[in-house]
Amino acid sequence: MEIQSVKGTRDFYPEDMAKRNFIADLWKEVSLRNGFAEFDGPIFEYLAMYQQKSGEEISSQLFAFEDRGGRMLAIRPEITPTLARMVNQRINTLPRPIKWFSVPRLCRAERPQKGRLREFFQWNIDIIGVDDCLADAEVIFCAVDYLMQAGLTSDDVVVRISSRRLIAALLEYFGIEKEGLEKVYSALDKKSKVPAEVFEKMLAEAIGDANKRQKVLELMSVGSLTQLESFAGEDKNAKDAIEELKRLFNYLNIMGITEFCRFDISIVRGLAYYTGVVFEIYDKSEQLRAICGGGRYDNLLADFGGPKISATGMGMGDCVLGIVLEERGLFKNISEKNKIEYFVTYADEALKSEALKMVASLRRVGKRTDFSYKGGALGKQLKQASAVNAAMCIIVGDEFTQKKQIVIKNMGSGEQSSVDVSDFLGRL
Ligand code: HAM
Repeated sequence: MEIQSVKGTRDFYPEDMAKRNFIADLWKEVSLRNGFAEFDGPIFEYLAMYQQKSGEEISSQLFAFEDRGGRMLAIRPEITPTLARMVNQRINTLPRPIKWFSVPRLCRAERPQKGRLREFFQWNIDIIGVDDCLADAEVIFCAVDYLMQAGLTSDDVVVRISSRRLIAALLEYFGIEKEGLEKVYSALDKKSKVPAEVFEKMLAEAIGDANKRQKVLELMSVGSLTQLESFAGEDKNAKDAIEELKRLFNYLNIMGITEFCRFDISIVRGLAYYTGVVFEIYDKSEQLRAICGGGRYDNLLADFGGPKISATGMGMGDCVLGIVLEERGLFKNISEKNKIEYFVTYADEALKSEALKMVASLRRVGKRTDFSYKGGALGKQLKQASAVNAAMCIIVGDEFTQKKQIVIKNMGSGEQSSVDVSDFLGRL
């Protein structure tokens, strides 16, 4: 029987792995320069943890299983609940604010499609213990910092920003019951992701009253914060939420990334735990799902049995990002990075031991070095060096026997020179 890979998973052959590392190495570099420290958790947790607060959509996409002790577990579909659990466990000893990042491998039983798989990697950055929207601004800055570092500009990507707090206040102001808000959020989150008739059906299920529904639809067409003020009337909660968004945009302006950011009332987010500023980053071609999504979740730690401490953060997957980087030709210098620096060849079988000694010396000083197992004619070994794209070739030949010299050949220019082995090794 021919064994196949599972639908929605990926095999990372070396060339794919190089791209995955390119993405993840930059995630780590940008996290560190923005002041975040790395953490990780287990790949599975109790099923109940995800059912409690991640929301209906994620709960329906869990890879869940029963262990031998009859416990119901699930492979992590996100790392935010693990983060909340871990922070709660040490809340009295962790200095605040807590700024952590992680690059977990996650699984969701989604219908695989372009940019959405069943197994993927997701960069997470989170700030715990800061109420002010400066923390939300910092999370957005960090995501944009990454995208810019990867070579993307405001012509390529856009950060669409809104506020759950604002939408909650306005929906309540329109007379929609608090208990029904969750359903309305799920419907609104699907607005740009499903056909219009499916969205209308979802909205009708969430809001029975046609007048209220109409108001929500009008709200969804608002294009700016100023326009929004007329919807808010004298409602204090809505006005406060608008003020907060204005402050956020001011911070983004100070941080110099305004050209990437846009207010967009239709951003609600699919996960159940968001309470304040929410955002998603999209590729401007608008053909793909979100590159990244996040926001404030001020109740999650308390919901998991900890103290009431505010939190905000985001997750960026590797799938859509990978497509965007590929389309723009931004996977640069990947082959350079892991290139073999020295390929050691030997002109005669009798010199094989000397060549192997040279290989070992080079490797021990940190040079990426390889050699031919087969040996044989020098020409063939040089061909092998070209095939692995080596930068330099070392030839251990006659000059070694006569004068303890080796020939160093630059594989790019073809230039070659002879040097004393001791000088060469000394210089390394
Ligand atoms: P999320 O919106 O579910 O948020 O996922 C964030 C990002 O992960 C998406 O924008 C996408 O890039 C990627 N992603 C999600 N599902 C898939 C999939 N099936 N295949 C490929 N990529 C996917 C969260 O997970 C939140 N926990 C993020 C967060 C952290 N919020 C606060 N802190």
